[in-house]
Amino acid sequence: MTDMYKTYAQKIEDRKQVYETIADTFDVKRALYPGSHVDVAPSLVIPHVIYVDSFKGTIRFFKQIETVQELMDQRKEYDEPCTIEFFGQDYTQPLDIEPVDLIISQYAGFVGQVTKQYLKPGGILLCNDSHGDATLARFDETFELIGVMGSTNELIQTGLDDYFRLPKGKDVDVAEVKKTMKGPSYLKAVEHYVFQKKEGLNEAIYDSNS
Ligand SMILES: C[S@@+](CC[C@H](N)C(=O)[O-])C[C@H]1O[C@@H](n2cnc3c(N)ncnc32)[C@H](O)[C@@H]1O
Repeated sequence: MTDMYKTYAQKIEDRKQVYETIADTFDVKRALYPGSHVDVAPSLVIPHVIYVDSFKGTIRFFKQIETVQELMDQRKEYDEPCTIEFFGQDYTQPLDIEPVDLIISQYAGFVGQVTKQYLKPGGILLCNDSHGDATLARFDETFELIGVMGSTNELIQTGLDDYFRLPKGKDVDVAEVKKTMKGPSYLKAVEHYVFQKKEGLNEAIYDSNS
């Protein structure tokens, strides 16, 4: 189990720094990570993380949740105890959880759309556009783009109007993104986008048929 995590962490090694910047900047104490596979790096910098994944290899990994927790306890960078929860289920199905400060969406479909009801108003959605989840957030009234992650994992909060722009001023076809599950090729793009859930909005649960 430990080997599986280490090998995976090596593959995606710089992700921890991204999570750390977000956790420190927004004082994140509770996060939800649907489609996490075994990327447990958020637990190094966030005290309570809820992982959700339906893949049987991931379910096998989290069967040893105490061992995962011990490993994270030895390496964590916060004072609070490390709490790890895992739901071995489809994240489109209801989750019995309290609202979180952060949702992490990495290469796992429309996580932000499907799980935004679990995000506190003012909470953060960290996502990429691999499957178009960042594009859907950009054109969703629930969210505001408040930053992007720079090449040294710093949070950039200026020049945000330059993102999600297509060549020749073409409009983004959100319906096409939903259909293809692929982010468009923008003039300027980064690996990680940072959105904030607006306060006081009555968000609709994502309807995959819309
Ligand atoms: C490509 S992996 C990415 C893993 C991790 N987020 C990362 O970036 O390293 C996608 C993961 O999302 C999970 N996944 C995709 N759709 C899911 C769903 N609807 N419910 C639960 N897990 C899902 C898959 O099982 C897989 O483990």
